[in-house]
Amino acid sequence: MTMTRLRFMALAASLSLGVALAAGGLPQSAAAAADRAVKIGLILPITGPFASTGAEELAGVKQYMADHGKTVAGRTIELVVKDDTGSPNETKRIAQELVTSGGVNVLMGFGLTPLAFATAPIATQAKVPMVVTAAATSSVTEKSPYIVRTSFVTPQGAYTMGDWAAKNGMKSAVTLVTDYAPGIEEQDWFVKAFETGGGKVVEQLKVPLKNPDFAPFLQRVADDKPDAVFVFVPAGVGAQFMKQFRERGLDKSGIRLIGTGDIVDDQFLNSMGDVALGVVTARDYTAAHDSEINRKFVKAFEAANDGMRPNFMAVGGYDGMALVYHALEKTKGDASGPKLIEAMKGLSWESPRGPISIDPKTRDIVQNIYINKVEKKDGQLYSVTMDTVKAVKDPAKAAK
Ligand code: DHB
Repeated sequence: MTMTRLRFMALAASLSLGVALAAGGLPQSAAAAADRAVKIGLILPITGPFASTGAEELAGVKQYMADHGKTVAGRTIELVVKDDTGSPNETKRIAQELVTSGGVNVLMGFGLTPLAFATAPIATQAKVPMVVTAAATSSVTEKSPYIVRTSFVTPQGAYTMGDWAAKNGMKSAVTLVTDYAPGIEEQDWFVKAFETGGGKVVEQLKVPLKNPDFAPFLQRVADDKPDAVFVFVPAGVGAQFMKQFRERGLDKSGIRLIGTGDIVDDQFLNSMGDVALGVVTARDYTAAHDSEINRKFVKAFEAANDGMRPNFMAVGGYDGMALVYHALEKTKGDASGPKLIEAMKGLSWESPRGPISIDPKTRDIVQNIYINKVEKKDGQLYSVTMDTVKAVKDPAKAAK
């Protein structure tokens, strides 16, 4: 055997040891466990077109740590925050680095579906739990047995909204969605529910993800004159949509604006103005959610973030941390990937959004979906809950 080959084998051995350590795969004594931090690699779009998602998610994660301390089951929690700028190649590259030289025990974040898709193989390979706190396409959790989701699943809201619209006097609708995985899924599940309930979808419009101009699509909606237009855009884009909706006079056209909560994103709702009044959406969270836990959460969050209101992304991040804390309590501080992921299955707790749980079969979130209507309360715009559908599982997985 040549020296080069020997050297190569030594290097390979030290590399695989590095991976085992990173995944927490070595047995540890209780004392060693207490010393060693549990590292969470939080990858978010902190800059770029989806920076509003990164800001809400990061603030949600930090709020959980502020509320519950930085130690759980004798282990210190260490957060490593990385900006992927919303680019899938970056998310994947950062995740790879974090599970090898970064030594993280958990990957967290994933602000958009393509970012979660790109990273899933790394979680599988490294046996590191990947807590998805934003990306919402149903199939995300099927991309790796190490993925758990604490945000929402697009069909939860889209199906609930389609059903509600059909039962509340709307007979015709146009769908207008952002043209990528969660948008297409929103469209399909809205259509399914609305048409099952007797409604008719007369046109299905798709708007590009990058630099969207809604004007030509809104003109089509105006020409079609449906009873309702069902809209999906990713978080942060709702304000721009609303501006163009008003500029084209659609708010005075008699066409009802409905959608999932993304279009009335709480971070921007107040700045949208009266065009948002009366808009009905389905979502797992509204900042106006009427519970003691939520009132405390909103107050602390706004105080810590210059008045920024928490939206559904913030609770996704908050509960991503809750999931890790609860799982560590269950494993008594053992952060090895396979133990943590097992511990996460079936957990349930009360979130600022209400009761939530992790379906042990699908590793996806089960939660209430609220039908909310935008109203003015003390001069501020809020999505106020009119109706609640309890403990909704992902309808797309239930249909399989
Ligand atoms: C996704 C992103 C969003 O900002 C949102 O509001 C819903 C879904 C996504 O890419 O999965």
